[in-house]
Amino acid sequence: MADETSIPIPGQIRVVTSLTNPTIKEIRALSLPKFRKESGLFVTEGMKLVADAVEEDWPIRILVYGAKVANHPVVQRVAQRAHARGGDVLEVSEAVLAKITRRENPQMVVGVFEQRLTDPQTIRPGPAGVWVALEGIKDPGNLGTIIRTSDAVGAEGVILVGDTVDPFGVEAVRATMGSIFHMPLARLSVADFFEWRKRWPGIVVGTHLSGKHDYRAVDYDKPVLLLMGNEQSGIDDRFAAACDTLVKIPQVGRADSLNLAIATGVMLFEIRRDRLKLA
Ligand SMILES: C[S@@+](CC[C@H](N)C(=O)[O-])C[C@H]1O[C@@H](n2cnc3c(N)ncnc32)[C@H](O)[C@@H]1O
Repeated sequence: MADETSIPIPGQIRVVTSLTNPTIKEIRALSLPKFRKESGLFVTEGMKLVADAVEEDWPIRILVYGAKVANHPVVQRVAQRAHARGGDVLEVSEAVLAKITRRENPQMVVGVFEQRLTDPQTIRPGPAGVWVALEGIKDPGNLGTIIRTSDAVGAEGVILVGDTVDPFGVEAVRATMGSIFHMPLARLSVADFFEWRKRWPGIVVGTHLSGKHDYRAVDYDKPVLLLMGNEQSGIDDRFAAACDTLVKIPQVGRADSLNLAIATGVMLFEIRRDRLKLA
């Protein structure tokens, strides 16, 4: 084993206890959008999520684990695979993990992975394919929950339009519960979205509080692009005009709208129900 002052040597585990170690500082910096953008990297926490990602061949740059799980067979396997891919492997104290994760009771395993986005021009939905397009979503918890729900319902991917929050931020990644590694994600500027949308081979369904159609009355018998609006302002007029249909989820009670991630879940499971012709 090498100590914390050494430069990474392929195949060697470095033991790090200093909170000011440069690699630890780099990992902490990934909480800032600027450094995620510059480096193209992001952080995932938790033994299962990191192990699953490594098993699925996501490029891992740095693996960090707590000394007390050093002998865990999963950690040993992940460390081996990280080394095999040229990753840096650090065995650290709990204080270092707490510093990295900014939590008092930190997860014992943290991975730094390369970000991956799908080129929107390569998207070819299947005949029953569903993609979710999110316009200007601001809340990382909502975004992560939508990615997780899209994965759970078998949607093909999520498109982030315009000024939508970064899916690779810590809070969004946590909320995906690992689906960040399973769901294709693409980004489009607002202008590019309108061009791209013209080539969508199915229907574009927007959700709107004043939508004309009940969401259960639509035939989702073609590839669906489901457009969801911003938490505060909803879908703006230009996006509404780009939809083939605007649907509403009828509400009872006094709440003026549903939470965005809940509304997305309701829509996605209705599309699935309609496709499977379930009661
Ligand atoms: C919190 S709502 C936005 C509320 C906003 N004040 C508005 O007027 O649209 C966020 C998004 O969730 C979806 N949504 C929430 N409740 C809905 C409902 N009852 N029917 C259809 N879509 C809904 C829409 O996509 C909406 O843009």
